[in-house]
Amino acid sequence: MTLKRIGILTGGGDCTGMNAVIRAITRVAVFQQGCEVIGIEQGFDGLIFNRVQELTTANTRDILPLGGTILGTTNKGNPFAYRELDENGVIQEHDYSRQALDNFKRLKLDGLFVVGGDGTLQIAYKLFEMGIPVIGIPKTIDNDLEGTDYTFGYQTATQVACDALDRLHTTGRSHQRVMILEVMGRDAGWIALEAGIAGRAHIILIPEIPYQMDKVLEKIKLRQGGGSPYSIIVVAEGAREVGHDEITLKSASTRLQGVKQYGGVGNYLAEQITRQIDLEVRCTVLGHTQRGGTPNCFDRVLGTRLGAYAVQAAVEGEFGNMVALKTPDISLVPLKSLAGIVRKIPLTSQLIRCAEDIRISLGR
Ligand code: F6P
Repeated sequence: MTLKRIGILTGGGDCTGMNAVIRAITRVAVFQQGCEVIGIEQGFDGLIFNRVQELTTANTRDILPLGGTILGTTNKGNPFAYRELDENGVIQEHDYSRQALDNFKRLKLDGLFVVGGDGTLQIAYKLFEMGIPVIGIPKTIDNDLEGTDYTFGYQTATQVACDALDRLHTTGRSHQRVMILEVMGRDAGWIALEAGIAGRAHIILIPEIPYQMDKVLEKIKLRQGGGSPYSIIVVAEGAREVGHDEITLKSASTRLQGVKQYGGVGNYLAEQITRQIDLEVRCTVLGHTQRGGTPNCFDRVLGTRLGAYAVQAAVEGEFGNMVALKTPDISLVPLKSLAGIVRKIPLTSQLIRCAEDIRISLGR
């Protein structure tokens, strides 16, 4: 089919490489299809409340090296269950999906390109079922999306964590301290494990393997006994001690109430270690520095390839699919098949085996 007018939106937590997708979609759509491109602002909010801007090859020319998304994003605006406060200050959920569909029609779009993670792509699939021709584009720093080898944003985030570990080594060694680095990773520990291997961590704690405190202490003491009184620990925010729940924060935002916000496991560990070993412990929470900044080369290329392929897929009428990296190619995966599956690190993976073979403790 010939595309005359398409829409792009970016949803969920931002990551590097989103602008690479926006730029690639715009360029292929304009140069190959002579198509108009509409940027929908702030995730699905823009579709519900009709906030849009025109995208051209001129206004997307310089966005490739920019972090974040020029369209804005939100991880709160689900059109099927949109949370708002009523006049009594009570949260109410509204279904704005019909309004989103009406706006899609009013904008006269031939297709909607949705850049997002698990939650955003599930919403995209529901909109597809309502009749919106959708192509999904996977993103997340957590790399935990089913159906694709890698998501863009992940490599840049992992490099940020690796650089932080290199820095923690020099200060940790100088002061003979236990240095803890808390990284993102709610359900999957890809960032912690790969950054930990690259950044020479002594202990890596991931959500997939609940850790035993005595094993963590044992490794620190082993290093102490061997004449290395400093240790480097990298812990994913979703990691938990055996027999305990993950550590979460109470969300301040009304629209996020009931949604788990992670954070605090690093400080919890620091407290536990301090109580039991006579060493100084310091914790660094890397947080959103992993999501911001300039995308690395890999994430720029992956975002560009996914965006360009997404337009080809739309031209061929392949709506209801997500574009995915199946090394070395980009291919299509039905959005339906994702169904909220989180891609965790398989316990039998060579990566886990490799870490333990080189004597990194995974706290078990
Ligand atoms: O999904 C990506 C992610 O970076 C998670 O690892 C993290 O828990 C979450 O986003 C934090 O999102 P925010 O602070 O934007 O709500």
